[in-house]
Amino acid sequence: MDMIRVQGGRSLSGRIGVSGAKNAALPLMATSLLSREALDLANVPRLADISSMAELLRQHGVDIQQSGDGSERVMRMSCRDLASTTAPYDLVRKMRASVLVLGPLLARAGEARVSLPGGCAIGNRPVDLHLSAMEDLGAEIDITGGFIEAKASRGLRGGKIAFAQVSVGATENALMAAALAQGESVILNAAREPEIVDLANCLIAMGAKIEGAGTDTLRVQGVSALHAARHTVIPDRIETGTYAMAAAITGGAIELVGARESHLTAANVILRKAGVTVDETPDGLLVKAVNGLHGTDAMTEPFPGFPTDLQAQFMALMTVADGAAMLTETIFENRFMHVPELARMGANITVHGSSALVRGVRQLRGAPVMATDLRASVSLVLAGLAAKGETEVRRIYHLDRGYERLEEKLAGCGALIERVPQ
Ligand code: EPZ
Repeated sequence: MDMIRVQGGRSLSGRIGVSGAKNAALPLMATSLLSREALDLANVPRLADISSMAELLRQHGVDIQQSGDGSERVMRMSCRDLASTTAPYDLVRKMRASVLVLGPLLARAGEARVSLPGGCAIGNRPVDLHLSAMEDLGAEIDITGGFIEAKASRGLRGGKIAFAQVSVGATENALMAAALAQGESVILNAAREPEIVDLANCLIAMGAKIEGAGTDTLRVQGVSALHAARHTVIPDRIETGTYAMAAAITGGAIELVGARESHLTAANVILRKAGVTVDETPDGLLVKAVNGLHGTDAMTEPFPGFPTDLQAQFMALMTVADGAAMLTETIFENRFMHVPELARMGANITVHGSSALVRGVRQLRGAPVMATDLRASVSLVLAGLAAKGETEVRRIYHLDRGYERLEEKLAGCGALIERVPQ
């Protein structure tokens, strides 16, 4: 398996173009199941998770064609007829976001059989909220042989969905299903992430009637069919935040081209408190850290709070800050797997339950490391950029799931980083 090798200690400077958002593109691709007409998606990143979703959709009967190059690249998805309403175990276990086909299949065909996603490195991640939302829209749900079997033989009907907890994926499934349900649906305690707004905008372009995207209450008037549309995926706010931390941890300056301040407000407030300068430019955001870093506390929260998907990267930053930082994870139960690996590089971190106390050290030292999820893995790359000597990050298939051309983008700013085939 390939690994990433980093020689640390270089200050990064330059420009990085932000790719399309993985977590926006995945649900957007699933909307192709809702219509007989073509959906054209621009700015879809080239990532392993996107290929997994494409494979799943193809077996449901979606024809997927890619055309153009660079910013002109378009993924055309057409599903004239569904070929199957079953999402098999082998595809779902590769990627949990596969559960996003549940709502669209049920809405379009009145039935869906989706393998239950199994355990996950970062937490239990149940799908109860997805299932109760489908029941609120009139579906009957059974769990049999490891599969969610959902049926709505007379079609879905509008209903009131009041989520007990904020869930990005469950809100997305509910929104896609409600778009084709008969009558009005109201979704309360909805997630407000930019990816939800992007999904709503795409559905609206396809003819859906949705109000309230970006707030905690979504109102959907169901329509009988959706039509062809073209939509551009929003820039990846987590990729943006990750490279902002790469600039910060190396005392460098990187302009993140295409980045949107409004998608990262909470993270930017915390970065500024930590001594990082974040300024809007005509092309995106310019991130600089020239006067050192101060220990700064952060707690993860649903949007607009500080994102759990940046917690590991911010922890890497805090390992070399002046003073201590308390980082509290409130979204996932097991999202500190990077801690023992950062410790192998000389970080001083103590975990108490859902909080980690990070005491800044003067210098990290390179080491062979590996992690069991995407954001944990990239936090080790960041640590490697700041460390003295060589760091080898193993199990990089995690990185390939969510970072497009990571080594190329960092090397373009002066990092000594390479992919080493094994
Ligand atoms: C999305 O996952 C993202 N994935 C995750 O990104 C991200 O970490 C997460 O949202 C939180 O922001 C995609 O968008 C594809 P949730 P999702 O449902 O939708 C609990 C990354 O690194 N919950 O908002 O699965 C759940 O266990 C990834 O790119 C239930 O209890 O997250 C968690 O504690 C990892 N029951 C909390 O809600 C449910 O039915 C929030 O999860 C659903 C969720």
